Amino acid sequence: MKSKLGVPYEGFAEYCRVVAREGIVLLKNEQNCLPIKEEEKVSIFGRCQIEYYRSGTGSGGAVNVLYSTNLLESFLEYNAGMVNEKLVKVYKEYIQENPFDNGGGGWACEPWNQKELFLTKEIVEEAKAISDKAIIVIGRTAGEDKDNLDTEGSYRMTEEELNMLKQVSEVFDQVCVVLNIANIIDMSPLEEYSIQSIVCSWTGGMEGGRATVDVLTGQSTPCGKLPDTVAYQLDDYPSNKNHGGDKKNIYQEDIYVGYRYFETFAKEKVQFPFGYGLSYTSFELSNVQVKQVGVIDKEATSGLHFSVTVKNSGDTFTGKEVVQVYMQAPQGKLGKASRVLVGFAKTNNLAPEEEEVVEFLIPYNRMVSFDDSGITGACCAYVLEAGEYVFYVGTDIRATNVCTINGKESLTIEDLMVLEPLTEALAPIESFKRIKPIVSDKGELTVSYETVPTRSIDLSKRIHENLPKELTSNVSEKIQLKDVREKKATIEEFVGQLDAQDLAILTRGEGMSHPQVTPGTASAFAGVSEKLRSYGIPLICCADGPSGIRMEGGLKSTQVPIGTLLASTWDEKVVKHLYNFTGKEMVRNYVDVLLGPGMNIHRSPLNGRNFEYFSEDPLLTGVIAKAIVIGIHESGADATLKHFACNSQETHRHYVDAVVSQRAVREIYLKGFEIAVKEAPTKSIMTAYNPINGHWTASNYDLNTTILRGEWNYTGFVMTDWWAKVNHISEGGNPSKSDLASMVKAQNDVYMVVGNFEAQDNVDEDNLMEAFDNQTLMLSELQRSAINICNYAMNSTAMNREFELFAAIEFCASKTLDNVEQQLVGDTTIKLENKRTYQFHCQKPGIYEFVLGYTLDLPDLAQTTCVLKLNGEIIGILQVNTTNGNFKSRVLCRKELEIGGYEMEFENWTDSFRTEQLIIRPIT
Ligand code: BGC
Repeated sequence: MKSKLGVPYEGFAEYCRVVAREGIVLLKNEQNCLPIKEEEKVSIFGRCQIEYYRSGTGSGGAVNVLYSTNLLESFLEYNAGMVNEKLVKVYKEYIQENPFDNGGGGWACEPWNQKELFLTKEIVEEAKAISDKAIIVIGRTAGEDKDNLDTEGSYRMTEEELNMLKQVSEVFDQVCVVLNIANIIDMSPLEEYSIQSIVCSWTGGMEGGRATVDVLTGQSTPCGKLPDTVAYQLDDYPSNKNHGGDKKNIYQEDIYVGYRYFETFAKEKVQFPFGYGLSYTSFELSNVQVKQVGVIDKEATSGLHFSVTVKNSGDTFTGKEVVQVYMQAPQGKLGKASRVLVGFAKTNNLAPEEEEVVEFLIPYNRMVSFDDSGITGACCAYVLEAGEYVFYVGTDIRATNVCTINGKESLTIEDLMVLEPLTEALAPIESFKRIKPIVSDKGELTVSYETVPTRSIDLSKRIHENLPKELTSNVSEKIQLKDVREKKATIEEFVGQLDAQDLAILTRGEGMSHPQVTPGTASAFAGVSEKLRSYGIPLICCADGPSGIRMEGGLKSTQVPIGTLLASTWDEKVVKHLYNFTGKEMVRNYVDVLLGPGMNIHRSPLNGRNFEYFSEDPLLTGVIAKAIVIGIHESGADATLKHFACNSQETHRHYVDAVVSQRAVREIYLKGFEIAVKEAPTKSIMTAYNPINGHWTASNYDLNTTILRGEWNYTGFVMTDWWAKVNHISEGGNPSKSDLASMVKAQNDVYMVVGNFEAQDNVDEDNLMEAFDNQTLMLSELQRSAINICNYAMNSTAMNREFELFAAIEFCASKTLDNVEQQLVGDTTIKLENKRTYQFHCQKPGIYEFVLGYTLDLPDLAQTTCVLKLNGEIIGILQVNTTNGNFKSRVLCRKELEIGGYEMEFENWTDSFRTEQLIIRPIT
């Protein structure tokens, strides 16, 4: 039954290649440098041609793949005759002498760049003598728990890389730079040298190498578009001066993130604009027609219907184009960005001379602004201010033309229209100033500042007034969860029969690498106790993550391109289809929920996790996330939107407070989530590590209840991030990991994670039962979260799985050994003292439980894995975080042993993990 576990889904990798090439962005192409022709010879420079990055690091990149492709091998595979093999030898020898530095192999340890060969003129001239063109590969990773820095080898290029650009561009007439990058890096040096082509290939997953060669050689015409603005200088990004602190990050630029800032105030600071990307062919846009559909209201079905004819006007290459629509709203009283992306659509592949009419609706609700001060007369509402709304249609944010609506060059809104009156929520409690445009004497918009409105509501009163009603149950017979699914009972009746203790246990997810679900995954939750399972609540399995299923310990899966590349496709169809495959692979591996997509806004290019996320723009973010959720769901599994919300920085990620206005939160940071919740079957959301305006997201009532459930009508469940912190539900204050009462009160339903088999006994000593006893946490609040969890569980794939599939106790054969160190008699404690192999002899056949005692000295929230093998077979995976200097024990597994010898072997990820002791005890 489990025979296909760890077997990558057929055809998935091939489709990853298709998508990877669709997200590659051609940034420059002069003198017909690209595509490279079959008869041309190329010299490839840069070690990353071999050590080609396939993803970023951390939970969003850790996928065990069968193989991965690099640029060099892919070139050789395409046409070995094209490659200058002598130069390849130089790089291979260099790498042998200077191997890849993985920083010891631990969490967030890898140096972000690898030492590059310092090129001499001789090497380059020798290469030039036998080749026509040069390719320079510059690679850079990024990762969780570590921001990129404004230093060489991180955001900036190193001396060796700059030297490589200089030497090669001085000798070769045609040079193409390939940027194999997880996050945007400083591209300004590329302007200083004579470089004809620039290809941003991102990190394209396991098929990224092949996809890049497909584009370089013209087997595929580039059609990716930038999902972010590339500015010349890091300091040009308005978020930069507040990024990286340890306590707070003030979102002073407000809604002016990315292009919203640059197009409004600083056009000249842009090296490559938002939405930009070249092709090998050319396109003409014509016959733009806009029709008004329905009345102006907040409904998704009323808006402006666009129809645009796109023609491939080239004569050689087939290709795709992205039609983009930007809006310029009147400044009004609120102030607006000069351009806002309001709609887009990608064509199919068009042969030369071929045309396609693309059509799409831009709902009026995309044109609104949020008034958080009442300056328009409508406080805390989405409004359309009076004035002229101009629409620009084109192929990037700059290459556009104004389009006419009803024969006029704008849509006029006569008077203020309140499209959606809402309530104050998530307001800052600290006063600060934010950017607001003012019109200069020359009629240009310049930066000025205004004071942000702060919280005026009484949060405690809001929570109290909205307490749910307590459910009572008078059913005589035990109701099973499947009875609810079969409509024989209601979810209220079902939950009403659980006592407070059960409800508390239900909110604790266990992990990582739980032995009763798919090996090496992130968590098992819901049916975490025998009693809960006796009601038919299944044990649900969730696994990372945004770039493919993460299974530590060896099982293989398929790695898709990073989120930023997916967004660069600007194509929800291909992304959805890609995630149909992910969903199928999940079902095959008994993974019910994927911990992705990650969808935070690219606020600063330094955020270490930008690669997992999509864009600086909320619409593009929301559309791509929605495609992923639908794609997975169509295949029978579920996605998780994360990290809800404002996870803009990895430095001090579990402390740094996002100090942000309601307007920016709603228009920028929550908008993508809102789209995915309202337009896709989203059922699972993960909150972030950080606080927003003083309230940690996992205990943030306005985030999880007022907005998510109250305004957006979300009916799924919410989980925390792993070992997240929470603070007091209404008073805020310092965080802890134990105030789960505040978490439940906020309606963040599940805490991720307590240790395996530790939910029932509350080993981490959270305050749920204490708060229930002293009536600061009501039974009805526990019941409300239970309904969210059980509603999800009831429809999940886990309902159809036998619990015994992974929980069954398997037999382990003995062997003859010559160095037995200990006899297994009754409860046996083996002192390991960090020994990695150990032999024991079992004297009595039976079932034994293995409990590992260990210490782990790593920074908070760093993850590590240790695998235990018994006679060569993996029997336990321990995936944990720091023990803060303390000794901890974890049940690893239960096994049936026969009489005879057993050799244990521990494989650790990091040296800071110490195996102290192993208790092996018989289970009757
Ligand atoms: C990350 C999450 C991830 C979780 C489980 C955390 O460190 O922030 O995104 O899903 O670990 O691996």
